[in-house]
Amino acid sequence: MKIALGSDHGGYNLKNAIKKHLEEKGIECEDFGTNSSESVDYPEFGMKVAEAVVSGKCEKGIVCCGTGIGISISANKVPGVRCAVVSDTFSAAMSREHNNANVLALGERVIGVGLALKIVDVWFNTEFAGGRHERRVDKITDIEKKYSK
Ligand code: RB5
Repeated sequence: MKIALGSDHGGYNLKNAIKKHLEEKGIECEDFGTNSSESVDYPEFGMKVAEAVVSGKCEKGIVCCGTGIGISISANKVPGVRCAVVSDTFSAAMSREHNNANVLALGERVIGVGLALKIVDVWFNTEFAGGRHERRVDKITDIEKKYSK
């Protein structure tokens, strides 16, 4: 399993903490930047992580910015990505179990590192339930198809 990581400057420290956490668990990460606290634009990094996931290069992705919002909106523009902004462990589990989220977004200015790492663990340890949720996720894909040219 290889995980794509990306952030802007607002999520840079959290991305680094997540990378260390995952690597300590033996999970391989590919870091798509940013590589410093210098101000950058989050869409670039949301897109890179999203593309790595939909291409199959990475199995899942984690993106961080100040709130998790801008970078999640950006990632979700790439067809095939289901990126969930999460600030609690219940939503982390549900985003996997019900929504089959393949990218997790976290806000460095919203939650502490301890909670963020717990969310990451819950997110990785929760499987998609399928069944009626499969039908609903398929309907999300139908919306993508309707609007993609
Ligand atoms: C950067 O200042 C900030 O706007 C960004 O990290 C993020 O919070 C946007 O959604």
